[in-house]
Amino acid sequence: MTAEEDRKFFDTFMLVLGALVVISIGIFILANSMAARTQEVHIKEDPAFQQRNVGRIRPVGQVAVAGADNSEIRDPGGPRPALAAAPAAAAQPAADLTGEDVYKVACTACHGAGIAGAPKTGAVAAWEPRLAQGMDTLVTHAIEGFQGEAGYMPPRGGLSSLTDEQVRDAVQYMVDQLPN
Ligand code: HEC
Repeated sequence: MTAEEDRKFFDTFMLVLGALVVISIGIFILANSMAARTQEVHIKEDPAFQQRNVGRIRPVGQVAVAGADNSEIRDPGGPRPALAAAPAAAAQPAADLTGEDVYKVACTACHGAGIAGAPKTGAVAAWEPRLAQGMDTLVTHAIEGFQGEAGYMPPRGGLSSLTDEQVRDAVQYMVDQLPN
């Protein structure tokens, strides 16, 4: 190889390299603009995402007034107030719902078909390792919400008006659906 050939090779090499860099930047910009118009919109509309944000920006403290209706006030770190007052009020469950009723209103959407990583109701393989944690842990996770490896379980299935007992009944109902 002569020095002349060397330089020719080097020049071509640099040209190809430069072209590749330009193409990569182009693809990056294209991907970004596509994501902004499609995926990002879906993520922002995801109730679980919105709920997490509401949790992050909620006030650190709330004042309970003696004699007033303080039902919207919860423990810090505990279940969050409903994301939007209107739908929660519309779906206000009656006080005497059974575990099955609660399940149908608040849990079957995810657990019925095993959506988004939710352990499917009646699926032994999905529930066995969870049952091993004990009923109390399952109920606590269902009440307070739970970020596991499989996905995000929203507090009270996203229906913050459910009482602890109603959530416990729903968990019991789900566990009862497992074949013995
Ligand atoms: C938005 C979807 C969604 C709804 C609605 C939902 N869950 Fe879940 N749930 C999940 C996901 C996802 C997981 C798995 C989390 C993980 O382990 O990664 C889960 C896990 C659980 C677990 C197991 C927790 C553990 O410790 O392993 C229980 C119990 C549970 N849910 C109960 C309920 C009950 C009761 C309701 C109704 C009041 C409900 N879920 C509604 C998504 C949902």
